[in-house]
Amino acid sequence: PGAVRDMLLGRIRDVADYPVPGVMFKDITPLLADPEAFTVLTDSLAAICSRRGATKVVGLEARGFILAAPVAVRAGLGFIPVRKAGKLPGATLAQSYELEYGTAEMEVHAEDLTSEDRVVIVDDVLATGGTAEAALQLVRRAGAQVAGIAVLMELGFLGGRDKLKPTLRDAPLDALVTV
Ligand code: PRP
Ligand code: MG
Repeated sequence: PGAVRDMLLGRIRDVADYPVPGVMFKDITPLLADPEAFTVLTDSLAAICSRRGATKVVGLEARGFILAAPVAVRAGLGFIPVRKAGKLPGATLAQSYELEYGTAEMEVHAEDLTSEDRVVIVDDVLATGGTAEAALQLVRRAGAQVAGIAVLMELGFLGGRDKLKPTLRDAPLDALVTV
């Protein structure tokens, strides 16, 4: 696990003052461009899905899609997109969440999840936890069980894990890299 962590971390680039001054952006595009590292990432997240007994993988638009789709294929599970509002054509459930400035809304097709499902939610980064919290609520409102949240990277200093604790209940939160 230490070797996997170091490999992944070594391919995440720090970009100073992006998107605004004072913020150190974590850019995962070098990792995605390296097929060996992307495979290690995919296999690691797929192993978490198997360990948690997932029946479906939920990916969060947009960066979560890049990770969650290959993870679903690797784990042999269906991929369910959670999209930003207004993009899904069928009957949806919607959940609003807090951004740094203002609020946003995400949606899932209501028929994509049932009470039979155990879902692992996959995203690239856990920062303040607002996005993950909204996804958790959506999955539960669709009637499915949250088997876990799995992210490539947790920004520990933002306290997302603590914020999520009451919503997570006993669902595990796995991060491959914590900074
Ligand atoms: C980023 C990132 C996570 C989220 C984490 O997504 O991909 O989804 O922020 O932040 P939080 O824990 O504070 O909610 P963003 O909404 O910037 O958009 P994108 O994935 O569409 O690029
Ligand atoms: Mg995102």
